[in-house]
Amino acid sequence: MSGAIPRHVAIILDGNGRWAKSKGMPRVYGHTMGAKNVETVCRAAWNMGIQYLTMYAFSTENWNRPGDEVSAIMDLLRSYLKTCKKTAKKNNMRVRVLGEKSRLAPDIQESIAVLEEYTRQFDGLNFQIALNYGSRDEITRAVNRIIEDRDSGVLDRNEPVTEELIASYLDTAGIPDPDLLIRTSGEQRLSNYLLWQCAYTEFYFVDIHWPDFRENELRKAVEDYGHRSRRYGKTGEQIVEESSEGQASV
Ligand code: FPP
Repeated sequence: MSGAIPRHVAIILDGNGRWAKSKGMPRVYGHTMGAKNVETVCRAAWNMGIQYLTMYAFSTENWNRPGDEVSAIMDLLRSYLKTCKKTAKKNNMRVRVLGEKSRLAPDIQESIAVLEEYTRQFDGLNFQIALNYGSRDEITRAVNRIIEDRDSGVLDRNEPVTEELIASYLDTAGIPDPDLLIRTSGEQRLSNYLLWQCAYTEFYFVDIHWPDFRENELRKAVEDYGHRSRRYGKTGEQIVEESSEGQASV
């Protein structure tokens, strides 16, 4: 593959419902096949040299879907989290869950705790699942915890609140910001996903439903990323200069 490989790829997996509908099947069938596709994409990502992969499995707004669909998704996530212990071991994958866990069923919370603890030892792909996740909720929780820690003396009251401090209170603390964000199924919006973390992320929107998004689609997204010029607010000339200085010093 030519060009730079993104260290961290975030995915908004969209289109399970439309994929199922296009096949004359119920929406839940789309979610089942969508959940099946997760391991395929995790493995492909690691084989391409991606170190961090974050998928949006269930948003804080997804509770507003019909009750039977929410229950079916929760059942799928329940069984995914259970079998994930085995696949994580096989694929040497560390799994972390982002989002507000207290609203999830107690057995799901327990599975998450077990999985996170068990996979802490693995040093292959870092796989994050955003579950009951909303970026505004994440930032609000972080701000409240900073206030609590200041009030209780854990944080020094005289220290200013910095970007680094806020980042260290987010669910993604210790995880690098995404380099590339992919959204499947043609929609072009962020839907309350990693708003803080995506400040300088490259976006890639593709008109393919999630269950059909396989290794070759990921490869195309990564190839596309490899040809982008990331400037972080600087000019193109500065970037060229910096990269030739970097090459000269190697
Ligand atoms: C996206 O399609 C579906 C969801 C965001 C919810 C369910 C996701 C899964 C079951 C995959 C499991 C993921 C992991 C990481 C274990 P949609 O229903 O929004 O599709 P539509 O826009 O076509 O209706």
